[in-house]
Amino acid sequence: MSGRDSQGPADDALRAVKGMNDILPPDSAKWNYVEKRARATFENHGYREVRTPVVEYTPLFVRSIGDTTDVVEKEMYTFTDRDQRSLTLRPEGTAGAARAFLEHSVHVKEPVTRWYYSGPMFRHERAQKGRYRQFYQMGVEAYGVAEPTVDAEQIAMLMTLFGDLGITGLETAVNNVGGPADRPRFRDALVAYFTPRAGELCPDCQRRLTTNPLRILDCKVEGCKALVAGAPSILDFLSDGSRAHFDGLRRALDALDVRYVVEPRLVRGLDYYTGTVYEVRATGGELGSQNTLCGGGRYDAMVGELGGPATPAVGFAFGMERLVMTLPGDAEGFEIPADVFFAAHGEPARLYCLKRAAELRARGFRAELEHRAASMKAQLKRADRLKARVVVVVGESELSSQQVVLRDMKAGEQRSIPADDLVPELKKLLR
Ligand code: HAM
Repeated sequence: MSGRDSQGPADDALRAVKGMNDILPPDSAKWNYVEKRARATFENHGYREVRTPVVEYTPLFVRSIGDTTDVVEKEMYTFTDRDQRSLTLRPEGTAGAARAFLEHSVHVKEPVTRWYYSGPMFRHERAQKGRYRQFYQMGVEAYGVAEPTVDAEQIAMLMTLFGDLGITGLETAVNNVGGPADRPRFRDALVAYFTPRAGELCPDCQRRLTTNPLRILDCKVEGCKALVAGAPSILDFLSDGSRAHFDGLRRALDALDVRYVVEPRLVRGLDYYTGTVYEVRATGGELGSQNTLCGGGRYDAMVGELGGPATPAVGFAFGMERLVMTLPGDAEGFEIPADVFFAAHGEPARLYCLKRAAELRARGFRAELEHRAASMKAQLKRADRLKARVVVVVGESELSSQQVVLRDMKAGEQRSIPADDLVPELKKLLR
């Protein structure tokens, strides 16, 4: 590759890839807050963290997500690496987690496994508000339990988390897409319904009519959506087992006081789902058309189809960008201000402050100091901007008298104290 080619158009070096975002402070504080609360909620329910690579061999996604889904057909970042292997940036987290579960024979040691994960996912979608090409998900997966109470517990866990975060105006839609035994009859019914109306379907759905008719139910094109409204309902085709599972889910959701609506045409965009599927949407309008915060469901066949033992599994993932956008409050309000700001006058005082700041940090205080030789006024202004609770002022006279000036920024008062009393005085002020 020539030097010019490798550099590309001049300004590409100076902008992020389309659909991929930088998350800067103070917004990152909001992200950290959500992640921290989510981790605590997941761990409180017995989920433990798993970290898998952001790239996998391509066949993992093709086989698990399905070769006629939009994600696999149109959206994957797939490339050949230097070993001539086809790799794909993960478009979602479920397939990689299942691969890890299987590869490490986790089922042998831990027949009931509950994992959570968080990290970037990649889909080459049409970028718009709430829809990005690199986006972050947090998700959970539970393996080894077929009972619908675990599906309900996951949905209730989400509601607990979203409620703790202060997010209101949510709508939860649930459905059961049936298992492999229920599908052929439903598929036939869909084909019988859509074939005479094929002319009104979009070109993609005309193709789906032969490759994967269920996918038509998930089409976002208006004309197709209108036809889907009158299509057969999977709920009329469920086997006794699937019906009992769905009824069990509803009883458990009712027992947990989770409000939901049954949407018989909810199918979701990934082929691995069997049985329960659900989505949580924001109804406040802040997300425009991309208002699905979270999607999940059962995928009882995936681990077996990847070559492992038959293992029931259920999980969900929510999009961090969308969740952060619905989180009430200004980003600044999520930043944790400094406890103490050291304002020093002259180099000996600055070295003294440098040492005292290190000592305070070791004791768990959030301490900052001005490294530049700025005027006292400028230093106090910076302390104010950092919303520091207390400013410690040290100059030559303080050094020689072994005193420091303690300025309570909230009360707007200051006083001299013996330098040795700094820690107990701070503890009193910050209590
Ligand atoms: P998904 O519905 O494809 O499901 O994605 C889950 C969530 O990720 C969405 O509801 C949305 O909030 C967010 N999301 C998806 N695509 C984008 C995008 N391009 N830009 C921004 N946010 C996006 C899954 O990924 C499944 N793995 C969920 C799951 C886990 N099912 C079982 N276990």
